Amino acid sequence: MKKDRFLITGLGGKRTLAGELTVSGAKNAILKLMASSLIFKTAVTFSNVPEIEDVRRMGEMLQDLGAAVSFDRSGFVSISTENVKKTTLDREIAKRMRSSIIVTGPLLARFGAVSFPHPGGCVIGDRPIDMFLEGYQKMGAVVSISKTGEDYEIKAPNGLVGAEIFFRIPSVTNTETFMMTAVLAWGRTVLQNAAMEPEIESLAEFLNKSGAKISGAGTPTITIEGGGLLESGGVFETMPDRIEAGSFLILAALAGKEISITHCEPRHLIALTEALRESGVPLEIGKSSISVSLPKNMPVSDFKSVNIKTHEYPGFPTDLQAPMTVFLTQVTGESLIHETIFENRLNYAPDLVRMGADIKVWDAHRVLVTGPTILKGRELFGPDLRAGLAYIMAAIIAEGDSIINNVYFIDRGYSKIEERLAAVGVSIERLAE
Ligand code: EPU
Repeated sequence: MKKDRFLITGLGGKRTLAGELTVSGAKNAILKLMASSLIFKTAVTFSNVPEIEDVRRMGEMLQDLGAAVSFDRSGFVSISTENVKKTTLDREIAKRMRSSIIVTGPLLARFGAVSFPHPGGCVIGDRPIDMFLEGYQKMGAVVSISKTGEDYEIKAPNGLVGAEIFFRIPSVTNTETFMMTAVLAWGRTVLQNAAMEPEIESLAEFLNKSGAKISGAGTPTITIEGGGLLESGGVFETMPDRIEAGSFLILAALAGKEISITHCEPRHLIALTEALRESGVPLEIGKSSISVSLPKNMPVSDFKSVNIKTHEYPGFPTDLQAPMTVFLTQVTGESLIHETIFENRLNYAPDLVRMGADIKVWDAHRVLVTGPTILKGRELFGPDLRAGLAYIMAAIIAEGDSIINNVYFIDRGYSKIEERLAAVGVSIERLAE
């Protein structure tokens, strides 16, 4: 793991950033699209693929299973799973990446067996996989633990059968995994209390274009008629990353003079744009862009506090909770941040306090932010991908220099972030290991 760091010289509260920030393809869409290659008999090709660590790792994992994966420099990836025979996930990759869990369903459905360790990923709570195991059992699989006690071993030698699956929590990756798995099962599967995130709708659109019979994606009830391996119907474009777009928008509200966020899907960002508007940020929303134009001397303290409660889509995304908290340290008043999706996702708060923020931790799920406060540059260790970007934003608005460690986490989800931020006027340098 490379130990690169970022050196950021803060703007000291000045509003100087200007230009265009172009949004990349969505990490949480392409990872699932790539995994779906396992339910295809022909090669699949995706465009607008972000150049990020997690995508490379998903590519490595599929290659390790026997797939042919080729990336090209203009943002395309092609994957053929014709020669996949292996059904054991590489331990190292699976442990490092939570989304490795997504391939377990397609492998089980296609080959009748899969074994894998408990998946890893960001340190944001327990992140159990109980609903995956329960779902596979409902579809006729037998789940056991390996002799070493380290791996799950799941078998369905006669194939999976369609089932009614109710999710205790509307989980994003469960919904996506079972949507793909059910395509290869016998008969009809109905997913209830399904998650409604736009990435799920996009995956269903791709699968349906390739011959799947999925209806209701984007609603809490999804019905899938099983039918066997799919055939690709051409290149499919990865949707824009709504979390990246939202983070750029928050940065524009904090330090932008004239910033346009382009190649985004504004309708996926309503929870954020409404919160920013409530705070007083003027936004110009186009078809695929959002602009923020503010007088150079206008302080962020002219905006007012808003309460934020994270919620499954279309509510306020947990992945934008940390960047939004940085914004709220600069506005006037008290804001209550309530994280409802994950444990441990407010763990960045003490670092912001070290920078000068006034944040009172009420409990594991709630903090109270009182603003405005002046932030001072510090050395920071990003605890996860999204908090890492929040630290970058805090460092940009702070007085003085900051060092951000654990850039590795940020590289997992944001492509060449330093180049893109530098282009709008941020002083940021990568200190390579
Ligand atoms: N959960 C269970 N049992 C399960 C699965 C999930 O209890 O079997 C719980 C989780 O612990 C959590 C809740 O259900 O409390 C919701 O988790 P969900 O399964 O929806 O999260 P995820 O699918 O693991 C995806 C994104 C996350 C994003 C969440 C919520 C991917 C690869 N990851 O995670 O993105 O925060 O949905 O929107 O799509 C990120 O990109 O940084 C990231 C963490």
